[in-house]
Amino acid sequence: MRVAFVLDGAPAELEAGEGEMLVDALRAAGRLSVRETCGIGVCGACAVIVDDEPVSACLMLAAQVDGRSVTTVEGLPDDDPVLQAFTQAHAAQCGWCTPGMVLTVKAMLADDPQIDRERAAEGLGGNLCRCGSYSRILDAVQLAAELTLKED
Ligand code: FES
Ligand code: FES
Repeated sequence: MRVAFVLDGAPAELEAGEGEMLVDALRAAGRLSVRETCGIGVCGACAVIVDDEPVSACLMLAAQVDGRSVTTVEGLPDDDPVLQAFTQAHAAQCGWCTPGMVLTVKAMLADDPQIDRERAAEGLGGNLCRCGSYSRILDAVQLAAELTLKED
């Protein structure tokens, strides 16, 4: 099936095979930040934003994004406040989980720009970090909230 959608702000098309998952289609399209790890919707490494909502790309068919908008970390500008915050707070250790974390945080801050640490921890419950740097990640969320509010 031919799929026409918006990828990182630009019109895009892809040929989705029967049963092809979004994570595979995005990686084939060069979005290597979208990582398949558990493959069953548990770890958040494959998280992307579809029409403003974070989704696990390992659970969504590529065909389902027809007519929709998909954002990956590759689509964020270098001065994106969440990216800046993750860098400044040293929240990425090996970096494997970071793209999914960043996108989940972006979606959370869009919903609740003044999110506190406790709610941020709940919101990141579906994003696992095998390096265990959750404290720094929550520091990054707080910093990202401050930077985002300053930007607005
Ligand atoms: S690879 Fe999709 S949630 Fe783990
Ligand atoms: S920074 Fe290594 S998995 Fe999270």
